[in-house]
Amino acid sequence: MKNTQLRKAVIRENYGGPEKITVTDLAMPILKPDKVIIKVMANAINAADWHILRGEPKLARLALGLFKPKEKILGVDFAGTVEQVGEKVTHLKLGDAVFGESLSGAVFAEYACVPASVCALIPKELPFLQMACLPVAGLTAYQALITHGKLTAGENVLVHGASGGVGHFAVQIAKAYGAAVTAVCSSAKVDFVKNLGADKVIAYDKENIFEHNGKYNLVLDTHGSLRFADYTRMGDRGVMTGFTTATHMMKVVLRSVVSKFSIKQFTAKSNVDDLNTLASLLANGKLKVHIDKTFTCREVAEAIRIMELMRTKGKLAISWQ
Ligand SMILES: NC(=O)c1ccc[n+]([C@@H]2O[C@H](COP(=O)([O-])OP(=O)(O)OC[C@H]3O[C@@H](n4cnc5c(N)ncnc54)[C@H](OP(=O)(O)O)[C@@H]3O)[C@@H](O)[C@H]2O)c1
Repeated sequence: MKNTQLRKAVIRENYGGPEKITVTDLAMPILKPDKVIIKVMANAINAADWHILRGEPKLARLALGLFKPKEKILGVDFAGTVEQVGEKVTHLKLGDAVFGESLSGAVFAEYACVPASVCALIPKELPFLQMACLPVAGLTAYQALITHGKLTAGENVLVHGASGGVGHFAVQIAKAYGAAVTAVCSSAKVDFVKNLGADKVIAYDKENIFEHNGKYNLVLDTHGSLRFADYTRMGDRGVMTGFTTATHMMKVVLRSVVSKFSIKQFTAKSNVDDLNTLASLLANGKLKVHIDKTFTCREVAEAIRIMELMRTKGKLAISWQ
């Protein structure tokens, strides 16, 4: 790779909506000792992308950049092949197919420099497009159910918001771990969620979930609209991954802090062991990635516009091939 080579990247200079996004040619990234340069084959879109694009909630700007974004290249989820290896990296080599999430962004580009510590190997022949969809949404679903929710075989779980990126993985992971799943989604997506393996599906536009009296060992809210009283009415314990408003989230979390009822709220951690678990579930046919639509790099603004509506069935992907 010559230093004069350029790469296409999806960028924005300032905070704002999808209209701020452009595709431009940039210099190649510079390799660091603990990093690898990836030739990116695919990315996925997440809610994080529009939060980062808009710099919302504003508190996030303490990390993202107070007045303008520190990192102008967008993107968190990636899959691709290792093109250059930093001198301190021992577990990856040239040509390895890898996937992961870059919490510092900058992966919506033909080439991206990411910490080797966030890269997991792609099992043979699994497609880049599907692997790119796993990290943020898959890790969130897995860590919500297993790490924080302590879900065990034979338990029953309610997944509120079961048809989106996190939700469609959560339904399948809970089934793979031997739980009985009741899933909540809009009536238009009931068949989709049944086909993911849910034992029972509640259409929230037909039955008021805020009055639902089912009893569950674990209540997982990927949408982020359940109230404290909903968790305690329906569950033995709760996990909240979704985000409607900061005030709502704080209310639920604070109520749980001062009560004996445990509701975990967390930000998914990049964890190679968990990525490997997700990859094996996929390789063994226990997890499927549903890609609602695939976009080109020139269509990322449109993809983020759709993501912001929070009505995606499964995942939205970007292909660089
Ligand atoms: N904590 C973390 O680390 C973490 C990581 C990733 C994402 N998140 C958050 O988790 C949330 C979901 O992310 P995602 O990637 O799964 O988003 P997504 O793909 O847009 O899915 C959103 C889901 O919300 C459902 N929904 C919309 N309106 C609803 C309503 N009124 N009642 C119940 N469900 C409703 C949608 O289903 P229908 O179309 O069927 O209504 C869809 O399943 C976002 O708030 C995101 O910020 C958190």
